[in-house]
Amino acid sequence: MVIHIVAGAIPSEIGNLENLEMFNIGLNYFTGPIPFEIFNISTIQRIAMPKNNFSGHLPPNIGFFVPNLEILFLWGNQLSGTITSSISNASQLANLQLASNSFSGLIPKEICNLRLLQVLDLQDNNLTIEPSNPEFNFFSSLSNLRYLRLLGLSNNPLNDILPSSIENFSTSLQELYIDNCNIRGSIPRGIGNLRNLMNLSLENNELAGPIPTTVGRMHMLQGLFLDGNRLEGPIPSYLCQLKSLFIIDISANKLSGDIPTCMDNLTSLRYLYLAGNKLSSTVPLNLWSLTNLLVVSLSSNYLSGSLPFEIGNVKVLMKLDLSSNLLSGQIPTTIGGLKDLVNLSMSNNQLEGSIPESFGGLVSLEFLDLSKNNLSGEIPKSLEALSYLKYLNVSFNILQGKIPVGGPFVHFSAASFMSNDGLCGAPRLQVSPCKEGVSQPKKVVAAHILKYVLPTIGVTMLVIALVLVWTRCRKRNAKLPVESNSLPLATWRRISQQELFQATQGFSEGNLLGKGSFGSVYQGTLLDGMIVAIKVFNLEVEGALKSFDAECGVLRNIRHRNLVKIITTCSNMEFKAFVLEYMPNGNLEKWLYSQGSYLSILQRLNIMKDVASALEYLHYGYSTPIIHCDLKPNNILLDEDMVAHVADFGIAKLLGDGDSMVQTMTLATIGYMAPGDVFLLQLEVECLSFYSCIHK
Ligand SMILES: *[C@@H]1O[C@H](CO)[C@@H](O)[C@H](O)[C@H]1NC(C)=O
Ligand SMILES: *[C@@H]1O[C@H](CO)[C@@H](O)[C@H](O)[C@H]1NC(C)=O
Ligand SMILES: *[C@@H]1O[C@H](CO)[C@@H](O)[C@H](O)[C@H]1NC(C)=O
Ligand SMILES: *[C@@H]1O[C@H](CO)[C@@H](O)[C@H](O)[C@H]1NC(C)=O
Ligand SMILES: *[C@@H]1O[C@H](CO)[C@@H](O)[C@H](O)[C@H]1NC(C)=O
Ligand SMILES: *[C@@H]1O[C@H](CO)[C@@H](O)[C@H](O)[C@H]1NC(C)=O
Ligand SMILES: *[C@@H]1O[C@H](CO)[C@@H](O)[C@H](O)[C@H]1NC(C)=O
Repeated sequence: MVIHIVAGAIPSEIGNLENLEMFNIGLNYFTGPIPFEIFNISTIQRIAMPKNNFSGHLPPNIGFFVPNLEILFLWGNQLSGTITSSISNASQLANLQLASNSFSGLIPKEICNLRLLQVLDLQDNNLTIEPSNPEFNFFSSLSNLRYLRLLGLSNNPLNDILPSSIENFSTSLQELYIDNCNIRGSIPRGIGNLRNLMNLSLENNELAGPIPTTVGRMHMLQGLFLDGNRLEGPIPSYLCQLKSLFIIDISANKLSGDIPTCMDNLTSLRYLYLAGNKLSSTVPLNLWSLTNLLVVSLSSNYLSGSLPFEIGNVKVLMKLDLSSNLLSGQIPTTIGGLKDLVNLSMSNNQLEGSIPESFGGLVSLEFLDLSKNNLSGEIPKSLEALSYLKYLNVSFNILQGKIPVGGPFVHFSAASFMSNDGLCGAPRLQVSPCKEGVSQPKKVVAAHILKYVLPTIGVTMLVIALVLVWTRCRKRNAKLPVESNSLPLATWRRISQQELFQATQGFSEGNLLGKGSFGSVYQGTLLDGMIVAIKVFNLEVEGALKSFDAECGVLRNIRHRNLVKIITTCSNMEFKAFVLEYMPNGNLEKWLYSQGSYLSILQRLNIMKDVASALEYLHYGYSTPIIHCDLKPNNILLDEDMVAHVADFGIAKLLGDGDSMVQTMTLATIGYMAPGDVFLLQLEVECLSFYSCIHK
């Protein structure tokens, strides 16, 4: 737990604290130079000043007088100047993080004398390395660091090649970040020796040549990022041996040949990015047996053949981009069953036949691009049901008939329907007006379908969806009330959307407690006078549905005095909400930062204990460890007795058996977080590893 206390500069008297061992003032608003005096305290072991506003340079003798220093965190400041070689005199350093500053000049080669280093993170600076010469090669000398777990050099202009000697990097290495570093040459085969590597990021360099087959030996690999290079040759089938692979991005290269048929071995895969290469032949059928895929991006290749109905098996798919290929045949109707699909592009192919009616079932769809194909027939009226659709493009096809007018179609302009000579509709769409009253036999049949069959399909889908939602939320013995009389009433309190509406005076501004990324929280008074907090998900936001499911998945299983208690949920197709215990004292963020709020040391200590015990429970108190992933003062709520309750499980992750993968992947999603919260997340993940260690 990091407490935000003060701002301003650090007084030099800090140097008088002769026996100081730890100095931890991360995530504050300190400014001015870093206090040089602290580097004169010989007992100091940890100096952590990340995420402040420190400027100026490092003390020239930084490592001379700190023989016990193990941890130095200065990342996320505005420090400049060079990293002096005296850093290497701090010979006990194990964790050195200087990322996200403006350091420039050479990374001192003496850094490789810090033999105990486990983490070396210099990302996001303006650092270079001494060009390779017969006497010295920077990367080769890094193999001195036998305990290295993380090497981060991304976003520095290193301008060098990766020598074959990286095969002698520490086998402890788990994370290697050398993206955006102007690295030339090829990827050395010896990289396969790094058998404990979990994340390999070499994207956005100038790497050429093939992807070495030896990547198949990195069995722990979860994230492989090689995109934005000039790699050529085939995708090696050895990749299929990487059973832990969670995300692979090899897009924007010059890879050719087939997509290997063995890809179905990658059973952990969630994100597949192969766009912008020269891949040809058909998309292997068994790719679609990877039913956990969330994103598939194959656009801008030379893929041909028709699309199989098996695409419909990938039920959790959120994004499917097949644009700019040579795909032909009809669009499989099964795609209409992908209820989580948000983004679908098939533009610029040779698809034919009609747009399936079933597309009306793509209830999460926000983006649909079918332009530049040979699609014919009418635009199905079922698309009017896609209430989140923001972008539609069916231009450059041979569609005909009346453009639907309801639902999202009120927002679309002529640019969505260009160059389809047979379309008719409103003048603003720049198509010919529809001839009213001329009954065409075909249209009558269509009208019948619309009138009788569709509603039946709609009702069936609704029932299936309700049953699905119900069973999903019900698994593992929790029972959720769904607004349907046919379902059994459970022990949870049953509250209707109408009652919530009344409780919050129509979700009025006056009742708004706060807004988060996925929705709003209102204060409400139920009919019996109970005061509650109502978290309403804004389903228009990408990912909100997932967030609801995640939170549902976590909250139904857990119970602890320091976690926010759930009273019930209210869930139907258009409306999803949680009814939660109301916390009269608001969130910790408010208490830490608002004028006039004050927490005593004892209160702070109690809050820390509360949060720690909530975390301990999440990580170890329940059969499946849970990582909160979004721990921050905002999500720590205080009840009337100032007892802290951890809230907001919208992006929490359940760790399955032996699923260590999720750990690093959680770290890999840091990009979505407020930078200041990364520290807390790291704390959480480190805590977790710690627990799993001590309980083994
Ligand atoms: C930190 O420094 C930046 C740039 O100098 C400035 O924009 C920002 O307001 C500062 N933040 C604080 C809290 O002092
Ligand atoms: C640190 O100690 C050295 C040697 O005793 C001294 O020369 C230097 O001025 C001190 N630096 C600071 C900032 O106090
Ligand atoms: C720092 O390390 C260098 C190289 O190991 C050594 O020559 C020098 O004496 C050390 N300086 C101090 C002040 O310990
Ligand atoms: C990076 O450092 C080089 C010299 O090493 C300098 O020319 C350049 O301006 C620096 N770039 C930034 C963004 O500071
Ligand atoms: C890696 O280390 C081994 C053993 O020390 C050595 O024989 C080999 O030449 C090294 N590889 C490279 C490419 O330097
Ligand atoms: C795919 O997995 C199977 C079973 O684990 C294994 O026998 C096969 O060798 C794997 N194929 C490839 C190409 O890795
Ligand atoms: C639809 O696609 C066509 C062809 O690529 C493009 O010209 C048009 O601007 C697009 N329409 C919209 C709304 O983006």
